[in-house]
Amino acid sequence: MAVTSVIGLQWGDEAKGKIVDLLTSRFDIVVRYQGGANAGHTVVVGDQVYKLHHIPSGILNRGVVNIVAPGVVLNPPTILKEIDSLLERGIPVAENLKISDRVHVVFPWHIAEDRAINAALVGGESIGTTLRGIGPCYRDKYGRSNAIRLGDMYRPDFREKVASIVALKSRLLSQLGDNEDLDAEAIYEEFSGYAERLRPYVAETTHYLHDALEAGKNVLFEGAQGSLLDIDHGTFPFVTSSNSSGVGVCGGSGVPPRWIQRVLGVAKAYTTRVGGGPFPTELHDETGQRIRDLGREYGTTTGRPRRCGWFDAVAVRYTVRLGGVDGLAIMMMDVLSHLPEINICVAYELNGQRIDRFPGHVDDLRLVKPILETLPGWQTDVSQVRRIEDFPAGARRYLDRVAELVGRPVDVVSVGPDREQTIFADSTL
Ligand code: GDP
Ligand code: IMO
Ligand code: MG
Repeated sequence: MAVTSVIGLQWGDEAKGKIVDLLTSRFDIVVRYQGGANAGHTVVVGDQVYKLHHIPSGILNRGVVNIVAPGVVLNPPTILKEIDSLLERGIPVAENLKISDRVHVVFPWHIAEDRAINAALVGGESIGTTLRGIGPCYRDKYGRSNAIRLGDMYRPDFREKVASIVALKSRLLSQLGDNEDLDAEAIYEEFSGYAERLRPYVAETTHYLHDALEAGKNVLFEGAQGSLLDIDHGTFPFVTSSNSSGVGVCGGSGVPPRWIQRVLGVAKAYTTRVGGGPFPTELHDETGQRIRDLGREYGTTTGRPRRCGWFDAVAVRYTVRLGGVDGLAIMMMDVLSHLPEINICVAYELNGQRIDRFPGHVDDLRLVKPILETLPGWQTDVSQVRRIEDFPAGARRYLDRVAELVGRPVDVVSVGPDREQTIFADSTL
């Protein structure tokens, strides 16, 4: 379908990777446009599990170009490991991967800074970042004077740039209480090695995308993180440092909004969150642990247990509007199959008032109480279901209620990690 974007509607890990992999065969180009190695996108093909951090989840489809666009922050050793692991498994990366020379590079000082800053509490709680240097790298990008882009690593003044930034960062880090020794020359040598290895993939991607679109190519955008982690529109400050909602597609890729024809929003049939911050429908009881166990809810990147709770229709109604979402992909329906009763949050109560809009301030979000509607569980294994009509009545009712509360149709339903465990209710996708 011409030009489509896939975005997460919750706090990340909605299974965007699975959906992008499945849709890729209908596209010529797949684009990652924000985030970095904080992302962990899983694609399961039979007994093979691929975990991708930077490389778009389209890479397993031969003949499709995968682009890492300017809005991404790149960790060179991590992407090189991803490339090596794909090559070892027979995936032809060389012809299919293009990394923009405009991406900002994550250096060891960013990771050290992330560690130091994450130790500080915001309102008594740690953001709980992935410690991948994401926030500090984006901060330097916006600060401009101490930033290094991939293209800068091939210029004659790269060594000098590293030396002057290391001098400054060493002072800053010692003030933050981090006594990691940064050795400018060693970092220069190490990163020059990475730059050489990455050279075959480095490309100008912005004109490439404009040319491709004008030539009528089909382009799929792959969001990282989730809309509620968006730096401007999420649960600030418990967010990531990029525009991870639908609004980030254009800024990060360099493709203007007029080209985006369709937006598919991905959501779990329940909710998860990793790291700190308010989570109105969080379950601290046995049911939460049950969902964690059944859904194997442990982080793809950090292995941390994910916090689990009910589907929050207030939050998703908000992120659907924010992202211009046309339809929903509802994932992990198999996980809910084992519960006797399932709740959906239909509204919040804030200071004794019922509200149905997602609050803009984190303090209000901390105070809201979810108003839950209880639906009977279907308690039938749905992992083998392949047509909407074959779902038990309870599961169909649940999907209909989600669509009704969120205000968008359910286009895709997922009943397991595998490619086959997917039902396309909308055949035009
Ligand atoms: P992403 O970051 O949005 O790509 O999602 P992650 O890969 O971090 O997490 C999603 C996890 O759920 C992965 O382990 C997937 O293999 C798995 N998964 C995807 N769809 C389903 C599903 O419908 N049911 C179950 N049980 N697991 C799924
Ligand atoms: P994918 O693409 C889930 C969370 C972190 C932390 C906050 C800030 O796999 O869905 P950061 O390292 O970005 O500064 O951390 O954002 N976070 C994610 N949570 N999925 C992700 O990516 C995430 N990327 C960052 O846990 O709360
Ligand atoms: Mg993930």
